[in-house]
Order: sequence, then structure tokens, then C-alpha cells
Amino acid sequence: MKAKFSSKIGLIAATVGSAVGLGNVWRFPAEVQENGGAAFLLVYVLCVIVLGIPVMLSEFSLGRAGGSDAVGTFKILSPKRPWWLTGVIGLVASYLILCFYMVVAGWTLEYTVQSVTGELYKPVEGMDLQGSFASHMQDYIEGSYSPLIFTYIMIALNLAILVGGVSKGIERISNLLMPLLFLLLLIFCCVSLSLPGASKGLSYFFNPDFSKITPKVIINALGQAFFSLSLGMGILITYAAYYPKGADLRKTAFTVSALDLLVAVLMGIIIFPAVLSFGLEGESLRGITLVFVTLPEVFNNMSLTCLWSSLFFITLSVAAITSTISISEVSIAFLQDRFKMSRKKACMLVLGSCAVFSTLCSLSLTRGSSLVICGMPLFDFLDTVATNILLPVCSLFICIYAGWIAPRGLMISQLTNDGTLKGSLCGFILFCIKYVAPPAILIILISPYL
Ligand code: PFF
Repeated sequence: MKAKFSSKIGLIAATVGSAVGLGNVWRFPAEVQENGGAAFLLVYVLCVIVLGIPVMLSEFSLGRAGGSDAVGTFKILSPKRPWWLTGVIGLVASYLILCFYMVVAGWTLEYTVQSVTGELYKPVEGMDLQGSFASHMQDYIEGSYSPLIFTYIMIALNLAILVGGVSKGIERISNLLMPLLFLLLLIFCCVSLSLPGASKGLSYFFNPDFSKITPKVIINALGQAFFSLSLGMGILITYAAYYPKGADLRKTAFTVSALDLLVAVLMGIIIFPAVLSFGLEGESLRGITLVFVTLPEVFNNMSLTCLWSSLFFITLSVAAITSTISISEVSIAFLQDRFKMSRKKACMLVLGSCAVFSTLCSLSLTRGSSLVICGMPLFDFLDTVATNILLPVCSLFICIYAGWIAPRGLMISQLTNDGTLKGSLCGFILFCIKYVAPPAILIILISPYL
């Protein structure tokens, strides 16, 4: 019998846990800053509603109807046609993402430890502490093997949770960690809002300048919505197979998207007042820099530096872990369902091989490394191929399948639980899946080449 989430709260906590990850914490504020501030926020919200929720509902409906892993779902629903290749794309994307994301998750753990011990804020001789965080990060990633140790610890934590299974492992840990994550974020909001000059940051984040909305801003907002909602990775198809029959898919999708959006907005409220209040707005907010360099600079300017820093990196580690377990589950479910492997064996195989590839990803960032593909370190190569190509391709096929190919009435019967729920908004959702999402995704996909 297929494992199921045992409660409504549990299935929402697990799905929100997957969606809320490093994408909300570092990617979102960086995108806001690079794409015109509040104008980006506005477009992003529209993208979540018009595109994100319909694609999420396609994945939920297919996953629950198929009741199998990401590949098996298509084999069950359309046994005679090669649509299962869509699942294969999601599976490959999720595995590649897992391998480099685990490395970043390891960094968050090491920064937690260094914040708790105070190591991160110890002045280096002959160096101004404020300017030293960038070189600290660079030395850490490029010049040492210690990131590997923390990546392995992260992998071991994932293994411990995942071996426990769906309800006792994933659901239980999500129920515990998600409320903790929201609590920590709320504490940070209060701290950030109490900083002098916080209103400058808030107005930057919430007052849109409509002239800043360009095609590039729209495309970037679409891409961010996909990544943040965990679309096109096979995760939501896999999780939906664990949803009980009575779960209301529309309510679940609205709740998950709203909470994911809330975390992104909370991060904006935390970061922009803090950064503007300490005059760090000139610094790049891109990716690694924001979380591992700019924020330690912010904490260094505050009293109780180590406390805030520890709490923040704990928050980040929590967000990372609930995402990595969801993405690992895609491959684990595949091995269990397709090859009838025991759960324990499947977990060991997925996370054991991930340890090997994550090692290569981490080493590809060290100075003088020869692990370079197409001019990029292996780490960046996997990120680019998975995020920019495989995710949109997989989502595109999912929408085309759900909107045009899937057995007649499948979407409606899943959305309404075989007619037992009212059909409100179903027309709008199906319209978006059929006519809006496919061309929009196609645009994201080809935009870099235009
Ligand atoms: N929605 C997740 C995030 O924003 O971080 C996307 C994700 C990435 C999920 C990597 C899982 C993962 F391992």
C-alpha cells in the first residue's frame, strides 16, 4: 500500500517545507534588487497566481491520480505513449539540483556552528572585521575541505529523516520545523523593523515604480515563481501521491503558495530595512554574497551579534533541510516504485551517490579545480542546466499533458474530488493551464537566446 500523509496539517507542512527554501531566502531578495524593487514584487505576485498555482494544481492532480512516483505516474495515466519521459526530466532535474543544493545546505550548517561558537565574528589580525566576511567566505569555499564535512553531516541528517518514511519521517519533522521557521522569521522581522531608518527599506520594497516593469523583469519573476514553488522537479507529483483521497487540492495549492509568498515577503521585510539602515545597499545582493557576506556584516553592526547570527543560520538550515528531503524523495520514490527497492536501500543509494556528486560539486569551487564543464565549475553547470533548462521544459510538458492530453475529466475530478467539492475557480485554473502557462513557459525557456 502506498504511504500517505496522516493529517491535513502534515501534508501542508511537508509541501510548504519543500517550497520554502534557499530560493525564498537568498534568491528572492536578490531578484527584487536586480529587477526594480517593488515593481518586481508586483509582477511576482501575479505570476504566482496566474502561473504558479495552475501548474502546481496540474502536478497535484496528476500525482494523486497516478498514485506513483514522477515517472510511474505518466506510465499509469498514459501507458502506451512516451509521456513518462516528462517524469524522467523532472527526476534528472531534481537529482542534479540535490547534488549542488546539498553543498549550500552544508554551508548553512557550518555558518550556524561558527555563529554559535563566535568563530565567524573573531577579528582576523591586520584586517578590518567589517570587510573580512567576503574573504572569509571565499577562503572557506575555495581553499578548504571543511565544506565537505558539513555537506556530509547534512546528507546524514537527510538520511536519518528519510529512512523514517513519509508519515514518521517527512511529516513529523515538517510539523516540527515549519512552525519554528515562521517563528524565527517573525522575530527577525521585529528586529529589522526596529532598526533606525527601517521605513526607507520598506518603501523600497513596497512602493512600485511601474516604469520599471520590463520584459526582463516579467521573465525573471516567472523563473523565480517556478523555483520557489518547487515546480517542474517532480517533487509535487511525488508528494501528491501521498495525499489522501479527501484532501482538497485547490485549498492546499492556495495555502502552500500563500505561505511561500509570505516567507518571501517576510525575507524582504527583514533584508531591505537592515541593508539600507546599515548603508550596505551598494553591495551586490546576489546569491551567496547576500546570505554569507552581507548579512554577517549586518549582524556585526547589531548588539547580540552571535545570537542573531545563530538564529538566522538555524532558520536557513531548517529551510534547507525541509527542501532537501523533498527533492531526495523524488529519486527515493522512483527507486521504490519502479525497482521495488526497500525504502532503506533506496535512501542509502540516493544519498550515498549524492555524497559522491556533492563532493565533486564542492571541489569544483576550490581554487585551480579542473572540474569545469563548458567553462563553468561543475557546481554552476548543474545549477544552470537544471534551473534554466530542465525545470521549465518539465513544467511545459506537465501543463501540455494536464491541459490537453490527460484522460478526459481527470483534472476536474481531481480538483473537485469526484464532484464532492464545489467547482469554483476550476474554469479559470483550466484556462491558465491550457492557454496561459504553456506560452509563458516557452517564453522563459527561449528568452536567453533572443
Ligand atoms: N522551492 C525550493 C526553494 O525555494 O529553495 C526549491 C528547491 C530547491 C527545493 C532545491 C528543493 C531543493 F532541494
